[in-house]
Formats: sequence, C-alpha cells, structure tokens
Amino acid sequence: MTSSQHQPATAGRGPDGWVRVAARAPSAHNTQPWAPRVVDGTIELGVVPGRLLTAGDPTSRDLLLALGAWVESAEVAAAAEGRSLRVEPTPHLERLDELPVRGPADPARPLLVLHPQDEAYPTPFTPDDVRDRRVHRGPLAAAPDVFADVPDVPAWLRFAEVDAPAMAQLVRLGTAYTVARPGIAAELVRWLRLSDQHPRYHRDGMTAEMLFVPGAVARLAAPFTRRARLRDPLLRVAGRVALALEGLGQAAPLPAAPHGRPSLAPAAGPQHLVLVADTRVLGHDGVHSRTEAMDSRLPLPHADVVEAGRVLQRSWLHAHRAGVSVAPHSEVVDSPYAEAALRRRLGLRRAEVVLAVFSAGRAATPAPRSPRLTD
Ligand SMILES: Cc1cc2nc3c(=O)[nH]c(=O)nc-3n(C[C@H](O)[C@H](O)[C@H](O)COP(=O)(O)O)c2cc1C
Repeated sequence: MTSSQHQPATAGRGPDGWVRVAARAPSAHNTQPWAPRVVDGTIELGVVPGRLLTAGDPTSRDLLLALGAWVESAEVAAAAEGRSLRVEPTPHLERLDELPVRGPADPARPLLVLHPQDEAYPTPFTPDDVRDRRVHRGPLAAAPDVFADVPDVPAWLRFAEVDAPAMAQLVRLGTAYTVARPGIAAELVRWLRLSDQHPRYHRDGMTAEMLFVPGAVARLAAPFTRRARLRDPLLRVAGRVALALEGLGQAAPLPAAPHGRPSLAPAAGPQHLVLVADTRVLGHDGVHSRTEAMDSRLPLPHADVVEAGRVLQRSWLHAHRAGVSVAPHSEVVDSPYAEAALRRRLGLRRAEVVLAVFSAGRAATPAPRSPRLTD
C-alpha cells in the first residue's frame, strides 16, 4: 500500500490549486461526487451522477453535505492566498431529482458557481488542515468538548449531544436498517476496497485499513465485494438476520438517560454529536414555506443543506486542529426508526431536522489516509 504525498505548499495557485485542495473534502463512502470545472477563473461545481448513492442517500442529504464540505475546503485554500469565493447556487441545485442515475457530470448543469473575490475569506484553517483531516473509525477515548466553540455556526444550526447508551443502541438499529435493505447494503459493498488488488483501491471508496478491518478478515471478505455471484446470496442471508435484529431493536426502548451533560457522565468515552437545523430560525417552517423545498425530499432547501455541510466541515477541521477525531454514523439518520428514537431522546421539535450524527474523541493511533481520484 502506498500513501499519497502532500501537494507542495506552492503548488497550483489560484482556482486550479483550490480545486485540488478541496478534493480532500470528505464524502459519504468516499464517492467524491463533485465535478469542478474552472472556466475563465470561475469554478463551476457539478456532480457525477454515477457517483451518487441512489439507494443509500435517496434524499441527497449526504451529497449536499459533501458539496458544502467541498466549498468550505475551497474557501480555506482561497483564504491562504488572500482570496475568497462568492457562492452562487444555480436553479439545478434544487432540482436534483432531474439528474440521471449513472454517467458522467453534465457541464451544462453546474449546481454552484464560485466566483473568486479579492478579500480574504476569514477562517482559522489552512490548506494543510484540509489535507490532513481524516475520519477515524477505530477506538476513540474521551476528549474535551470542542463542538461548543466551532467557528461561525449560524443561529439555525447547532450541535446537540446524545448520551453513549442511547448512541450504542441507535447505531445498532441504524446498522441493522442498512444491512436489512439489499439495495443499500449492495451499494455500500460496491464502495468497499478490501484488497489492494481492487482496481480502484487508490482512487475512491473505503479501504480495509480505513475501516480498521483486520487483514485476515479483509482477505477472506474481499472476493465477496467484487463478485455479484458471491455477494448477493451473502447479502440475502445477512439481510434476513438484520431484519430480525431490526425488529427486536425497534421494539426495545432506549436505555434510561444518564443525568446531566452526556459527555460529563462517569467513564465518558467519545462524545456523540448531532447536527440539527432549526427551520423556524431559517425562516421557513416544516411545511415547506419556500418554493425551493417543494420538490425536495428534504424538509429544507438544498442551498441550506450545502451551508450546513460547510459548517460540518468547519467543525471537523476545528476538531482536527484540537487533536480530536471524528467517526460519522449516518446510519442513525438513514434509519427512520433510529432517527425517530434520536429525535425523542433529544426532545427535538417537528421543525428541527437532523442532518448528521458522528462520534468524536481522542484516537491513540492516526487513521489511515483515504484515497482520492486526484492523488
Ligand atoms: C455527509 C457524510 C456522511 C458520512 N457518513 C459516514 C458514515 O455513516 N460512516 C462512516 O464510516 N463514514 C462516513 N463518512 C465519512 C466518509 O466515509 C469519509 O469522509 C471518506 O471515506 C473519506 O475519508 P476521510 O474523511 O478520512 O478523508 C461520511 C462523510 C460525509 C461527508
């Protein structure tokens, strides 16, 4: 296995260089769905339909968060050169349902246009922070709460905290949901790169090392990820078991909530955080008061979810700076049962929307670096 080299600090000044830095943004399953094009110094950001998680991300929530993380990363790169980007959403952003489900990006359909500006984007982060940040799926220990002071969180977004016993059960419920649905599970398996013999091992998806899968297990499982003849029967059996577990999990109430702040509980491990959007503060309520949200499968306009993705990336960069690692758990938002139980646990109102769930803590060893198409 090789690890990619950092770009030299002087490489690719201007929008071409910002695009290369932004390629290190996080995306669900490391799909890297973005398609940037620099046209006369302006960045047009589209998406690659063939890289969308049609089964696992039917609302495009994770896609929009990843686009936001990309934009924030590009801004950090621009800031290092005393510049910033004015972000202009195009009408295509709110019409994601018109996208095909396969094939390359359509250059005629950018979702966002980013116009370079002469004043510097105010950010404490550097391009090195963007390049070095990585998620960590290994063991995480308790760390100070860094999510209380993430820079520039707008009033309509907040980081709520969920207690560890509830989180453990929500993750089990979310995982069972994913495995019990063959379409979602097969899509996840398609993005696994369990052996360095996989043709896309250095390009995209998630390697065994990133997932902390032991070498022997990865070697045994690798053929199942690449051959449908082996994969499909296994997924069918796993799906039946998961469906039974999901049924049991749905019936079981969450364990009693500990008193006080979850992260201050005795023997606290990692913190468990939930990015919550309040549509009342945004000025549109849960009944889709803005026309943009009318055609959407999300209860808020896509442009706002992109904005939330920027805040999510700021929070992960902020954690990275403080030596705190992050492990996302989107399965908790994907499963309607887990999401409903989480909402009840947090006492959320109908107008509040859960956008992301992740754990955060101190890792004993660094996480392996994830591949990128641009490496
Ligand atoms: C919106 C979003 C959702 C994600 N959901 C998950 C998740 O549920 N489980 C997980 O292990 N990683 C999740 N990730 C992390 C990605 O898999 C990760 O960013 C990608 O593999 C690249 O790795 P890196 O962030 O270390 O560069 C998510 C990332 C984003 C941006």
